[in-house]
Amino acid sequence: MKIQIFLILLYYCYSRCAFTVDENDKPIETDRDPEIIGTVEACPFFSDQPVCCTRSQDRSMIKDFKSLDATFGNDGGGCDICGSNMKRFWCHYTCSPNQSEFMKISGRQNMTDPLNSSKIIEVQMVTLEVHPQIACEVFSSCKRTSFATQVSAMASPGGFFTFQGEQAVGEGGQYIKVEFQESNSLYFEDIWSCNHNYSRTTEDETGIHYWDDFGYELHGECGCNTCENSCQSDKILYEPPGILYGFEGTYILFAWGWAILLSLAITIIRRCQQKKFELSDLEEQKQILG
Ligand SMILES: *[C@@H]1O[C@H](CO)[C@@H](O)[C@H](O)[C@H]1NC(C)=O
Ligand SMILES: *[C@@H]1O[C@H](CO)[C@@H](O)[C@H](O)[C@H]1NC(C)=O
Ligand SMILES: *[C@@H]1O[C@H](CO)[C@@H](O)[C@H](O)[C@H]1NC(C)=O
Ligand SMILES: *[C@@H]1O[C@H](CO)[C@@H](O)[C@H](O)[C@H]1NC(C)=O
Repeated sequence: MKIQIFLILLYYCYSRCAFTVDENDKPIETDRDPEIIGTVEACPFFSDQPVCCTRSQDRSMIKDFKSLDATFGNDGGGCDICGSNMKRFWCHYTCSPNQSEFMKISGRQNMTDPLNSSKIIEVQMVTLEVHPQIACEVFSSCKRTSFATQVSAMASPGGFFTFQGEQAVGEGGQYIKVEFQESNSLYFEDIWSCNHNYSRTTEDETGIHYWDDFGYELHGECGCNTCENSCQSDKILYEPPGILYGFEGTYILFAWGWAILLSLAITIIRRCQQKKFELSDLEEQKQILG
């Protein structure tokens, strides 16, 4: 009995919301309890669970997730599993019943819209604590997508989330400062790596559809050009040349000088190019077949 009361107390201690939106979809601070709102279309795994998001936030997320698919998903030269991981991340951000545990709101500020430097907007200041494991795993499923590789700010897990936090200024009216720590931080289990296989299929008049475990459709596999884990491990781009093995490397180099070094370099470059062509051929074949 005592344990149950303790658990209930613990549940209520943790289960508080940090923000919600007003009737104009502007973010406002709150400390209300999570509520069951039924089906959460953008985050199916939160359906019929106590959540901090509202119906109108669910609708906004569906819209935002379409542009997320277009930038990080298969359609945008990316990988749908990266897209799915990011959707789950933003679902927890918006809907998690533990929101107040990993998020602090510190008032409002006027700042320049990063997407339009001549526009000043009032934003809610948010500090978001993210578990480092989440940051690394989500990042590694996304880092080869063409969008992430084009934006240099997203070259590291920290930059990846900071960049997206800054983008929320225009979209969500929030400025999100991302910090990383192990406890009291945004965390969820079972992040798929980008070469994960679909877990179930459905069929309708338009054909077969592939799905992950979280209710998101996967529109295709993520090949080597969008997912590092899909590159065959036996196709290593660089192979150390065999002749120097077992010899005293420096001695040989000293004796034969730059001639060997030069021919070695040319051989390595040739090998790399050959491997690259093989790889891109393989990718093309895969895409044609798939
Ligand atoms: C919320 O926190 C509790 C206690 O730490 C945990 O058991 C639960 O899984 C968390 N819920 C979500 C959706 O992360
Ligand atoms: C932001 O600017 C508007 C218009 O100038 C002003 O009404 C508002 O109080 C400012 N907000 C803050 C937090 O400074
Ligand atoms: C940028 O903001 C200014 C001022 O609000 C506005 O007049 C202009 O149309 C905006 N530009 C774009 C590209 O949205
Ligand atoms: C994915 O699963 C299907 C059947 O469930 C199997 O035929 C296919 O080989 C798997 N692909 C990979 C890359 O594991």
